[in-house]
Amino acid sequence: MPSRRHAVIGLGHRAQLYVDALLGDWSDTGRLVAFCDTNRTRMAYYADRARAAGHPGVPCYGPEDLDTVLASADTVVVTSPDATHARYVCAALDAGADVVVEKPLTVDEAGCARIAEAAERSGGRLTVAFNYRYSPRNAAVRALLAEGRIGEVTAVHFEWMLDTVHGADYFRRWHRRRANSGGLLVHKSTHHFDLVNWWLGSHPVRVFAQTDRRFYGDDGAGAARSAAPRPPRAHRAPTLGRDPFLLDLSADPRLKALYLDAEHEDGYHRDLDPFGAGVDIDDTMSVLVRYGNRSVLTYSLTAYAPCEGYRVAVTGTRGRLELEVCERRWTPPGTALDSTAAGGQDGEHERLTVQEHWKQPEEIPIVRGEGGHGGGDALMLDDLLRGTGDDPLGRRAGYRDGLRSVLTGIAADRSARTGSPVALTDEGTRLAPATEAEASRP
Ligand SMILES: NC(=O)c1ccc[n+]([C@@H]2O[C@H](COP(=O)([O-])OP(=O)(O)OC[C@H]3O[C@@H](n4cnc5c(N)ncnc54)[C@H](O)[C@@H]3O)[C@@H](O)[C@H]2O)c1
Repeated sequence: MPSRRHAVIGLGHRAQLYVDALLGDWSDTGRLVAFCDTNRTRMAYYADRARAAGHPGVPCYGPEDLDTVLASADTVVVTSPDATHARYVCAALDAGADVVVEKPLTVDEAGCARIAEAAERSGGRLTVAFNYRYSPRNAAVRALLAEGRIGEVTAVHFEWMLDTVHGADYFRRWHRRRANSGGLLVHKSTHHFDLVNWWLGSHPVRVFAQTDRRFYGDDGAGAARSAAPRPPRAHRAPTLGRDPFLLDLSADPRLKALYLDAEHEDGYHRDLDPFGAGVDIDDTMSVLVRYGNRSVLTYSLTAYAPCEGYRVAVTGTRGRLELEVCERRWTPPGTALDSTAAGGQDGEHERLTVQEHWKQPEEIPIVRGEGGHGGGDALMLDDLLRGTGDDPLGRRAGYRDGLRSVLTGIAADRSARTGSPVALTDEGTRLAPATEAEASRP
């Protein structure tokens, strides 16, 4: 593959995966030609990182110089907050670039429609970075289902638990506002709904959901458990170091450099109290989905569990498959910084079993990869940057996959608010118009 010119838009936490890859093990595949962010301090952090790795220097631009950024690159990596994705994805596609966009593809129906139109009129290739597809355990599920080990899939039961470390993090910063992240059914569940679409090789047709906010926010049970009045943020809070929900940015050199030292520019406080005012997303979600192939899904996501992981049970006409993944069995008091993505957590384990009718259960060995998300991040980078060419499981996700998973979350959110099921059309890539009665409800 010829050496590609990469621009990265949004130089916060997630950008590091791509920047380090292009400065390190994947430097033969392409080079960094531009950074673009609203915050100069964060861009300088990455520009310094590039210089330290021997890179001659990466030019830094604000969004007002987007045309210059796009003119310099043939691949644009979008790692800015979710609600900004649609603008950058469409502009990059219209400039003829290939795009790698972090999940979720976008946060609302309007963003989905804009991206679909841009993708259809552009020659550029749009890839959604669904790293969970690359985790060997999730790929093993796909392979077993594709080879028909449990027959035709009829039902999926999927429970995802975010613990009080990882879960709380979505209530500390921009994700806590639905307008920025679409809420957790979009921001987080996009991974999970995508896995189900990919496992089943099908698309959602009808969604019903119930959601609530029971723990975070200034009205949740978590706040009620705290005896003392809570500070608006962790920085300089008198209880810092004793309150496990307060994230001490100054204790971690990377967090300090990326956020505390950068906040004077834009007032982005990375360490808000998750029990503070201003949270408008839910933390307790139950969703029912019906698919084009007649399978049904029961899905649950909670964001305040004492342990972190997920359980999937898939039932088919010839048997059943179960995947149990523990990413962190417990967290000692005082842990506020999530590191599950890097692996190596206490009690981490995974177990995949298949049981065909009239047979003993069989445990399927999983070859674990190195690094984040069960080895998924490294395998995804290899595919995205090196283009292995060999993709028998169909892991590389295009914009239609991005639309399907995001729209499942948007449909679930609408259903939870209206109390009615929501239909999807065009193989799960559009929402059916709301009925008059639904549209008139708040
Ligand atoms: N696949 C995964 O496992 C995974 C993990 C983490 C984050 N993500 C995704 O990566 C994206 C970024 O998340 P993050 O945790 O790095 O957030 P972050 O807040 O750490 O970084 C976002 C960056 O975007 C910049 N930004 C804000 N508004 C902008 C704008 N209008 N134009 C350009 N830049 C702007 C911010 O200044 C910041 O530097 C999100 O879409 C998130 O869902 C994916």
